[in-house]
Amino acid sequence: QFSTRVFSGIKPSGGLTLGNYLGAIKRFVDWQERGTDCIFCVVDLHAITVWQEPSELPGMTREVAAGYLAAGIDPEKSILFNQSQVHEHAELAWIFNCVARVGWMNRMTQFKEKAGKNSEKESLGLYAYPSLMAADILLYHATHVPVGEDQKQHVELTRDIAAKFNHDYGTEFFPLTEPVIDGPATRVMNLRDGSKKMSKSGQSDMERINMTDDADTIAKKFKKARTDPEPLPETMEGLKERPEARNLVDIYASLSDRSSAEVLRDYAGAGWGQFKPALAELAVEKLAPVAEEMRRLMDDPAEIDRTLARGAERARAIAAPILAKTYETVGL
Ligand code: ADP
Ligand code: NA
Repeated sequence: QFSTRVFSGIKPSGGLTLGNYLGAIKRFVDWQERGTDCIFCVVDLHAITVWQEPSELPGMTREVAAGYLAAGIDPEKSILFNQSQVHEHAELAWIFNCVARVGWMNRMTQFKEKAGKNSEKESLGLYAYPSLMAADILLYHATHVPVGEDQKQHVELTRDIAAKFNHDYGTEFFPLTEPVIDGPATRVMNLRDGSKKMSKSGQSDMERINMTDDADTIAKKFKKARTDPEPLPETMEGLKERPEARNLVDIYASLSDRSSAEVLRDYAGAGWGQFKPALAELAVEKLAPVAEEMRRLMDDPAEIDRTLARGAERARAIAAPILAKTYETVGL
């Protein structure tokens, strides 16, 4: 009974990375171009679950918005807005805090990874992050959430929250949203440490490719990326125990809209001295026009703010009646 609708978000918590581009934004553009009803958000309420400098947050929000726009999100086709401008997100999150169980949150691996051993010093917001994310998604009755692999558990928790709400209140008001994790680059890894995903926060600059890096920087970072000494194998089987090699092949595949197996067919037997420069060249070819457009957009912050404000109005038109119905259902 729910028509197909996509929701996804990106935190303004640092510069956008190649992981954000391949694992998220590039796929969002594909959804939009297939004509799907899409809502994309800059999730600033999520960003402040860890400290953000108040004077820097608006700039980071605009940079994420510019990344979406430069990569091809069209604010006429899709709804593009900034989470804190639609207060319904925080209100539905509170209701979901009362639906979700403490035990569910305790099982979230991302919190454990981020908090490490010192979890008592983390914000309560970081711990409850998944119920705000459930609110982001369910406030629009979104049916599909394209995300990177790292967000799978959170989207599954969103389903648990929807199911428990529906069960407890005897309704079928919220959809059981599907995570969509597809393509060759659902988990782009850190270039220096193959056990960590590439991330915009908490890593040094050489460990990641930023969407705004220039050609020389991209080439240098790929050149310095950790790899084993072996040449590229003929089949995917040969990448099994080689996470760093696998990562670079997956990045190449995603950038060229092919499968990793197809890339190996072209490069079987190639050494890194051949593959890394080819990868850098491809990355520059794809990212440079996007970076240039991002810089152009960021030169006019007022225009980005107007785009986000229009998006917030459209988002609220969907969100407000869904929140009102939720309040009524709960007896508020
Ligand atoms: P980050 O971890 O870089 O701060 P966010 O938490 O804002 O990114 O995530 C925004 C989107 O980008 C999510 O869908 C997330 O799964 C995706 N994403 C983030 N990092 C990667 C990565 N290294 N590989 C693939 N997708 C990623
Ligand atoms: Na993340």
